[in-house]
Amino acid sequence: MKTNSSLLAERNQHIPQGPFNVHPIFAEKAKGAIITDVEGKEYIDFAGGIGVNNVGHCNEEVLEAIQDQVQKYIHTCFHVVMYEPYVELAKRLNKITPGNFPKKTMFVNSGAEAVENAIKIARHATGRTGTIAFEDAFHGRTLLALSLTSKMKPYKFGFSPYAPEIYRMPYAYCYRCTFGLEYPTCELHCAYFLRDFFQTHISAEQVAALIVEPVLGEGGFVVPPKEYFKVLYKICQDNGIVFIADEVQTGFGRTAKMFAMEHYDVEPDILIMAKSMAGGFPLSAVTGRSELMDHPQVGGLGGTFSGNPVACRAALAVLDLFEKNDLLSKAKNIGKRVLEKFKEFQEDYSTVGDVRGLGAMVGMELVMDRKTKEPATLLTKHLIDLCREKGLLMISAGTYSNIIRPLMPLVITNEELERGLSIIEEGLSQLNKFGIP
Ligand SMILES: Cc1ncc(COP(=O)(O)O)c(C=O)c1O
Repeated sequence: MKTNSSLLAERNQHIPQGPFNVHPIFAEKAKGAIITDVEGKEYIDFAGGIGVNNVGHCNEEVLEAIQDQVQKYIHTCFHVVMYEPYVELAKRLNKITPGNFPKKTMFVNSGAEAVENAIKIARHATGRTGTIAFEDAFHGRTLLALSLTSKMKPYKFGFSPYAPEIYRMPYAYCYRCTFGLEYPTCELHCAYFLRDFFQTHISAEQVAALIVEPVLGEGGFVVPPKEYFKVLYKICQDNGIVFIADEVQTGFGRTAKMFAMEHYDVEPDILIMAKSMAGGFPLSAVTGRSELMDHPQVGGLGGTFSGNPVACRAALAVLDLFEKNDLLSKAKNIGKRVLEKFKEFQEDYSTVGDVRGLGAMVGMELVMDRKTKEPATLLTKHLIDLCREKGLLMISAGTYSNIIRPLMPLVITNEELERGLSIIEEGLSQLNKFGIP
């Protein structure tokens, strides 16, 4: 039998170090919110394949849909011979995404690819070149997406030159406000700052798009104040700028609404989806106002594998599951419980500097000192390693990798959720005994 360490040795021999691994274990099987490794050890999954397994690992309905599809055809290439699942999925996404206006949807394969296409469409439609992105943003690793991503190490370092015409604003990261202000007395200075930005960085009439995550994912589960996006959206509208919501991580129920922009009452011109939309299959979507989506010429958009029929069938099954099993309520309950527990941790351990959340997207930011807010990067890694030893898989987030970001499947049972939370508590208490705050 292969062990984790024998497989790791092979992995290291044959695979470069660049594609990173958080945990030194190999999966044998996975179901619901449990992953079993090749040595038979079971783990509660609070990582969900980085927010992909919202409907759980190997969901029965998803399996049925893909098994039915693979018996019929696996790939024809939508650009050569079209197929119904692509059309059906586009129709459903046009209906459920925020925005009471005619919409169209196209599919690609990854979050980064969807980001690239959204920017292409915005540039084509506006005839402008500039894009405004945010500090602490993550939009992917392909060249344009990487250029929009904020974090230098490890993502951007050594990979320059980046794509041009990208301008970066501070995000509404209230715990670490760039302007040293406090909400609500700040009166949303960080949002209105966009107007100054047009004077100091790029003229409004040169900006094709503003791309923003409704809640920072990789950036550390940062939740902006409720009026923030309305202000940004209005300024974009007033200046003919396409407002793009990157819902790759927030989408498909993670925040207890299908899309996080619904919390903010904003209807983005273009909305990007990926990750959990196809129950684990690589699939991403760009949905937007019809007049924008239809702007690029025939053949200007697409790709060989884009909108694979098996992935589209999986995504249709995921949408059915949301309707049938009320996964949005589950997300709400999970979020409530995790927030409650994390707040308790904040009371008990001074290393827990900030706790924030929207739906099931609840983050816990670890610091070495509450006053200086020095990020507790190493400590976060220790906590994650300790939790793995105790049977819980987690990942971190944040520019300084000091934020615990649970992305458990929304089908997790109460017992699994409670066990996972108590493992985090045990981990914090163990670190505390070693003199960590
Ligand atoms: C908000 C956001 N956008 C884009 C991406 C890139 O997606 P992918 O890794 O599928 O290219 C991610 C991935 O984490 C993300 O969280």
